[in-house]
Amino acid sequence: MRRTTVVLGAVVLVGSVVPAAHAGDDQGAPQYYDSGLAPTPYMGWNTYYGLGAPTEEQVRKVADHLVSSGLRDSGYDIVWLDGGWQADQPRDPETGRLVAHPTRFPSGIPALVTYLHQRGLKAGIYTDAGEYDGGKWCGLGSRGHYEEDARQFAGWKVDAIKVDFLCGIGAGLDPEPAFKEFSEAVAKSGRKMLLNLCNPLTDDWGLPHTPEQDAHNTFVYGPTTADSWRTGTDIAFGIPSAGEWPNVLRNMDANAWHPEAQGPGHWNDPDYLIPMRKLADGGYELTEEESTTQFVMWAEMASPLIIGSDPRTLPQSMIDTLRNPEIIAVNQDPLGIQGARVATDSVGDVYSKVLKGAGKRAVVLLNRSDQAQERTVRFSHAGLTGPVAVRDLRARESRGTHTGSYTVRVPAHGTAFLKLTGTDDAPGTRLPGRASASPALVRDGDRLTVFTRGTDGALRAQTARGGDWSRARTTELGGPTRGRILGQPAAYASSGGRIDVFVRGTDNTAYRRVYTDGHWGRWQRLGGTLTDAPTAAFAGPDDWTLFARGADGSVRTRGPASDWTSLGAPQDRAFYGRPSAVVDDAGRLHVAVRTPDDAVWSRTRDTSGTWSDWTALGGTISGSPTLVASGGTVHLYARAGDYTLWQRSWTAVDGWAGWTKNHGFVSGVFDGALGAVAGPDGGVLAAFRGVDGRVHQTEL
Ligand code: GLA
Repeated sequence: MRRTTVVLGAVVLVGSVVPAAHAGDDQGAPQYYDSGLAPTPYMGWNTYYGLGAPTEEQVRKVADHLVSSGLRDSGYDIVWLDGGWQADQPRDPETGRLVAHPTRFPSGIPALVTYLHQRGLKAGIYTDAGEYDGGKWCGLGSRGHYEEDARQFAGWKVDAIKVDFLCGIGAGLDPEPAFKEFSEAVAKSGRKMLLNLCNPLTDDWGLPHTPEQDAHNTFVYGPTTADSWRTGTDIAFGIPSAGEWPNVLRNMDANAWHPEAQGPGHWNDPDYLIPMRKLADGGYELTEEESTTQFVMWAEMASPLIIGSDPRTLPQSMIDTLRNPEIIAVNQDPLGIQGARVATDSVGDVYSKVLKGAGKRAVVLLNRSDQAQERTVRFSHAGLTGPVAVRDLRARESRGTHTGSYTVRVPAHGTAFLKLTGTDDAPGTRLPGRASASPALVRDGDRLTVFTRGTDGALRAQTARGGDWSRARTTELGGPTRGRILGQPAAYASSGGRIDVFVRGTDNTAYRRVYTDGHWGRWQRLGGTLTDAPTAAFAGPDDWTLFARGADGSVRTRGPASDWTSLGAPQDRAFYGRPSAVVDDAGRLHVAVRTPDDAVWSRTRDTSGTWSDWTALGGTISGSPTLVASGGTVHLYARAGDYTLWQRSWTAVDGWAGWTKNHGFVSGVFDGALGAVAGPDGGVLAAFRGVDGRVHQTEL
């Protein structure tokens, strides 16, 4: 299993070597932490909101109930001890080991773990990344003992660890380095354990930290540090209290800031489900509809589904909802895409989640208001066209086939949860075949060639005249090593019909292959150690500058006659993805990269060869940027956090203009980065890989 952590510009490999890439892998992602235990959002139950400080007997009873109610078989299989499992003196002063509470857990944790494992359940445990402060802010803390505690949990055969930050916050610790150190300790423990970071990010406890900074950073370091990370404060109090509905929306909205931060094996965590907890004076904290809204939204956001309430107290109808297989299937969709808001008004929002398979979406119509309302989804907002089959996932009934839109009455504080099956409405013309990475595009007059990486990992060129892709001519180009390439190819046309293609080989080295005089030459090795695909600022066959991400997370560059050197990285932090480079009509060279906080930064080299500093171009992007020069303008394109296409452009006179959204690309129609080339008359032509794996070619 791959366990890697990016630390301050250096890739530190923990307990493993650089993985051999699989034929289907695309590049362009950071080095995610991945226990391998949560390829889809994990599911289970946590003690905190239902039991407070639990006893082993209660935990066993809930475990039995998870089995007898069918919840385990629906996927809720982690039984996760929160704070309160530990003794009042949590660490044995002699041995330094953590100790379970002697009266609440008289049989000890290993016995409980065995009990759970025998029932097909997994065991989760809780600690804090700060130092135990005698009970002021936290009940236990692992600081100073990360490796011993991780080994102790591994020895107990624990399957999941939640690491809180109450004592960390209390002591004014910086969460990122503390969590990273803890994560490395878990990776070294000898057991695969799911790791959940919990920085509760609140300013309402009078604790010394800034929630905005923490929130921002969590999305950045979370994916490279753990399987999941909390994206907001606690959704409720430990004890049920009236008026928690707005907090459900608050956590949901906080979790929506960075949908692109998550994917298979790494998840945004908006906190636990709190369905229908009973208030002390009777009644429920959330109504059944509100509880269902939380469940539906968590499913839509591909969030971990951890029940917080005591499932023994839930009415059968609520258990049935939590077990709804069609809703769980949306949550567990293998693409792991977080549903994003695609329309909004004063009453509520429409969310769309791209599901695996062509033309499939899960759509939520959320009614935030206090009255039932008619709500409409426009299929175009979900990136679908043609007749669309509508299925009501809550009722598990088909609602017929509709064109254009679908309207339904939605209860107050409620949802309609629909599965739509239509035709992917990606702009442009679809090419034959499927691709496993983003493409490159070159133009020679009206002849266009798209370079794609096929599903077998081999490079392939498809050429068509006048945009008639139905008659495309395909040439198989294989790859320099093992007949394959890694990631997105880069390709450039020059006079006489020549094309230069640059790729990353399976040996992580750069290669070039040239088409000239009507035939393809051999692969030429250009060296380097690449951790993503290269691009070039290409002015001609003997005048190009190649850029790629190096092993240290910096931009590495070389020309036809020069060796690889480093151009650094914005703020000296490892960037990720494929850099993009272009040479403008005055001979200036521009490079853009995606930084770990999903912004674009760029650097420019003037004609005298002097590089500018790195400049922030902003954005929240979810794919590598693409630069293209056309008619005196440099255009920058990137997929945004809501999976739409955004762009900015640069001219020598005005510098960078602001970001604008490209309305041809609705949410969720393309993956990764565009391949782009100057079109005729100052326009831009693009090729992209749709979410269905098909390559499309269009004009921007
Ligand atoms: C913090 C966390 C909660 C829970 C409690 C336990 O508030 O955010 O999820 O673990 O601590 O005290």
